Amino acid sequence: PPLSRILSLMDMENVARQVLSHKALAYYSSASDDEITNSENARAFTRFFFRARVMRAVAHCDPSTTILGFRSSIPVFVSGAALAKLGHPDGELNITRAACKEGIIQMISSNSSFSAADIMASADQSQTLFFQLYKHRDDDIAERRVREMENLGYKAIFLTVDAIVAGNRERDIRSPWILEEQESGPVYFASGTSDEPKDGVNVFGTAGALVANDDRDMTWEKTIPWLRSITKLPIVIKGIQCVEDAILAAEAKVDGILLSNHGARCSSLPPLEVLYSIRQQHPEIFDKLEDSLFSDPLAGGIRRGTDIIKAVCLGAKAVGLGRPFLYAQSAYGQSGVSKIIEILRREVVTAMRLVGASTIRDLRPEMVQRVDWHPH
Ligand code: FNR
Repeated sequence: PPLSRILSLMDMENVARQVLSHKALAYYSSASDDEITNSENARAFTRFFFRARVMRAVAHCDPSTTILGFRSSIPVFVSGAALAKLGHPDGELNITRAACKEGIIQMISSNSSFSAADIMASADQSQTLFFQLYKHRDDDIAERRVREMENLGYKAIFLTVDAIVAGNRERDIRSPWILEEQESGPVYFASGTSDEPKDGVNVFGTAGALVANDDRDMTWEKTIPWLRSITKLPIVIKGIQCVEDAILAAEAKVDGILLSNHGARCSSLPPLEVLYSIRQQHPEIFDKLEDSLFSDPLAGGIRRGTDIIKAVCLGAKAVGLGRPFLYAQSAYGQSGVSKIIEILRREVVTAMRLVGASTIRDLRPEMVQRVDWHPH
């Protein structure tokens, strides 16, 4: 269909499902075990309703904000997701160019199809890009990578901690091995490890191969000071899944946390519920973060402007989306990515006006209420 017919992120996903190869779709869309967490990530948003305020002047409405001090036209960023070339020959570059045009920040994956250097080369000088790090188990290799990213001009390191092994994604595992079809350069995955495919079947799937060399012995005491000692960039922990670890992250003095269950690729609580628990049980974490200009975004299951505004009301600085960007670039290349950002901007502004907010600052926790009954 012509791009003008795409009205929502779901419309875009439906087009992508028709154009993607079977194995690309299996890799992009699969989630852990029986994929119930995946639908729950999205369903969590339906348990939260607005308590909208009326009779407020909202003709002028500005949805812009900052993420780790960098400008963003809406409280949304691209969360790093691997292997964009599976869906379109221009892969991540589609996202970089559209993100520039639309004024949002792209976090690139450690396992992007294009190299971090190629992606940076296609970016505008003024553009902000973040780097997602899967820490190699060899500290020296990891250090070289982090220093390379800093030199290239990436503005923050998102250390992923929720995927030291891949979740059990059976649709990905059942579909054939895909990595050899990728440009192998930037993908520094396992060779000579026990996670290699046997008889053409890798029980850890594509994702398992991508993280096979990851450090499985990371700790707060060891890994954060190590990372601090090798980079001046802001450090964000990607994959916080409960209140206790949010507290530990704040104590470890990282610059931000990203609440995420890896897009339901592991089976923990929907990040929105974790955000709500922090708000209920330890609101002082938000005060600490604000004082230190921490950013505390959140990722998983976000498909609507109203979802974004609910999360921002509860205290998220911004939200990260993964699959929608992969689907949009698979379906229509760069213009598909621009399209979903425009859709999100329109939906965000509509939601802000309807709750009575003309700036992001006006969005408050008391504008959202969680209900116990299940709306469906
Ligand atoms: C991911 N995600 C991810 N995260 C990460 O830190 N490094 C990575 O390489 C990837 N790769 C990746 C590939 C695919 C296909 C998916 C679906 C996800 C997780 C990603 O950053 C983000 O947390 C989730 O995708 C957010 O959930 P939604 O928006 O996809 O529902």
